[in-house]
This record gives sequence, C-alpha cells and structure tokens, in this order.
Amino acid sequence: MRLDKYLTELGAGSRSEVKKYIRAGLVTVGGVPVKRPEEKVRETDEVCLRGKKLCYVRYEYYLFHKPAGCVTATEDARHRTVMDYIHSAARRDLFPVGRLDLDTEGLLLITNDGALAHELLAPAKHVEKTYYAKVDGRVTEDIVNLFEKGVDIGEKKLTKPGILEVLREGDISEVRLTITEGRFHQVKRMFEAVGMRVLYLKRLSMGPLRLPEDLAPGEYRPLTDEELALLKPETLSAK
Ligand code: URA
Repeated sequence: MRLDKYLTELGAGSRSEVKKYIRAGLVTVGGVPVKRPEEKVRETDEVCLRGKKLCYVRYEYYLFHKPAGCVTATEDARHRTVMDYIHSAARRDLFPVGRLDLDTEGLLLITNDGALAHELLAPAKHVEKTYYAKVDGRVTEDIVNLFEKGVDIGEKKLTKPGILEVLREGDISEVRLTITEGRFHQVKRMFEAVGMRVLYLKRLSMGPLRLPEDLAPGEYRPLTDEELALLKPETLSAK
C-alpha cells in the first residue's frame, strides 16, 4: 500500500500531515529515508517515523465491558463514547459492533473488521445475544410463553422468539433473555409490551463471545486466539 496511507491508518496523522512528514525526510523504510508519499510499502517492511518503529496491524479486536453512561458511537458532542476507553489501539478506524443504550452495560466488540461486524449484525444471520435484566414486577409463565412466540413491539412484524429464563422471582425479577435480533431498544420494548419496565440491563454474550467475569465495567482486552477462531465466518454460520 502507499506509504502515506500506511501511516494514516496507524494514526500517525492526517493524510496531508503524513505527506509533509514524508517529504521532510522523517520517514524511513528499511532504514532508508523515503520522500515520496506514493511509494509502496509492504506490511512486513520496517517503517520508522522520527526514528520510532511503527508496527503495522491490519485488524484489531477488543472485548469491552461497556459501563453505563457512555454512548455506543465513535463520536458524541455530549457524552463520553465507548471509544474513549480504548487507549492502546494501533489503528484509528475502530468502531463498536452493534449498539447498547446509554444506560446498558456489558459486552461490546470493538474492531475495524467490517466483514465480521456484518456477520454478527446482519438480521439474516440470527446471531444470539443474551442479556441479564432486572425488571419491575413478576415475570409469569404467560410472559415466558409469549416471549417464546414473539412479541408485538409496535412494528409490522412480531419479534423473533426470545428465550426468557427467570433467575429470581419477586417484585423485582431477575431474568436472562436470549434474542436473535437487534431492533432499537428491543429488550426494553419487549418488556414494555407486557407492561413491565427494565430497571437494569447488561449484555452477557454475543454469538460465541462471553463477557468475562473478571472484566470490570470500563475495562477491555484483546480477543484471545480461541475467541478469534470462534468468530471465523465458517464457525459462526455453523452455529
Ligand atoms: N435492548 C435494549 O433495549 N437496549 C440495549 O441496550 C440492548 C438491547
């Protein structure tokens, strides 16, 4: 790829800034200064900016425990975004895969792999998402059965079936809900449809990814090799 593109992708500056650095002789490839921004480099080349070696990374994958109070976006004028928590990224083109509400916590994948994001989010792929929720009121057998059939949340079609498990009964119920869609505010609207309010919501899993118990809200870590293997398209579609 072009040297200026390589540097921009790694966040060395804007395209025009990195062109200036290159023309000023601040960039070396294999120890030799290169002054043409259009010069081609390979991922394996040793590229240095001001003598500091850059490490080329094509894709990055982070598992993030989103805390409440930050928006799932790359930019926002009013709130902290999920991207503000990811400090160690090499690339500048990372984005969150899917969306959690401002007050929702839990598992969020952050990557720059658009093809994987599509595999996980496309409605036709039916990727399972499991949530833990506290809801006000008692979750009856009828509600469990209704969720299993699909719920009318005021759109043309009922939701796809949701598997609702009651973890703790009471005036405030604790539940686990697994759904295969990602409609806007879907979990909250499914409970609203049966006259209940979600008081707390946390995503526990998305496809084969699970929220690790030792990852506190606001923390993140790179995906492990095992998790990456589970996200390969052939593995995902075999589920
Ligand atoms: N459903 C919701 O209502 N909110 C979320 O953040 C995720 C799923």
